[in-house]
Amino acid sequence: PLVSSTHLLQAARANGYGIGAFNVHTLEMLQAVIDAAEETNSPVILQSTVGTVKHLGADYIAAMATTAANRSRVPVALHLDHCTDFDIIVQCIRAGYSSVMIDASHETFEENVRQTLKVTEIALAAGVNVEAELGKVGGVEDEIVVAENEALMADPDDCAKFIELTRVPTLAPAIGTAHGIYKGEPQIDFDRIQRIAALVSVPLVLHGGSGIPEDKVKRAISLGMAKMNIATEIRIVFSDAIKAVFAQNPDENDPRKYMIPAKKAVKEAAIIKMIMLGSVGKA
Ligand code: 13P
Ligand code: ZN
Ligand code: NA
Repeated sequence: PLVSSTHLLQAARANGYGIGAFNVHTLEMLQAVIDAAEETNSPVILQSTVGTVKHLGADYIAAMATTAANRSRVPVALHLDHCTDFDIIVQCIRAGYSSVMIDASHETFEENVRQTLKVTEIALAAGVNVEAELGKVGGVEDEIVVAENEALMADPDDCAKFIELTRVPTLAPAIGTAHGIYKGEPQIDFDRIQRIAALVSVPLVLHGGSGIPEDKVKRAISLGMAKMNIATEIRIVFSDAIKAVFAQNPDENDPRKYMIPAKKAVKEAAIIKMIMLGSVGKA
């Protein structure tokens, strides 16, 4: 069965490694991430955004992820990424998701607390993990767009107060990363991560994982980040592999053929992240 990511992430934070959380949009992407986790013996988190829930259906996604978890030797969690809508959260929990994110980071602190509390009240009782965001992660993730000048770092004291008020078991503080591929290198505020981690014992979540150089990922993990989200990079390698097939053979019409290199590309990209995060052998 799918497992709640709370304990997986607590173990990761306690032992100084990170768990990869991969946004998947198709069965083949999901299988590729699972293959990577099995090959490296890594715990893994499958994620879908709200857009993917609308595209595929929460029940289909949960059914695919549950099948993967049942067949797998490694622990697998299924997480709803960046959700602003309480009703969709309830729908996903009913469908079998083992973790949900309530993203009210665009609201005031008080409203973020109120909405997060509403979710922890139903989710924690059901054994479902909850993630919330403080500050604002820049860039574009699905339907959520935050301009560079609107991105906002999380305040460490606010983080501590927020956890106390909401009992949220995992927190994504904005610390300088952004969704999508960076122009240049991300300016990560490591000192801020350290100050937040000193005040907050819950596992921290690093958003915007695509394009962060290896040394910066490792440093962020060593300071208390326990989950890293990866979306854009695996979408790109998946699509590029399919484009390459059609460039070679424009008449190809068998999805079972053109999906093979796409799956392989996602698997390889996921393995690189798992090695970087130090989750290898931790399943
Ligand atoms: P990237 O698209 O930069 O990998 O960000 C992923 C993310 O944070 C999903 O929530
Ligand atoms: Zn994100
Ligand atoms: Na990114």
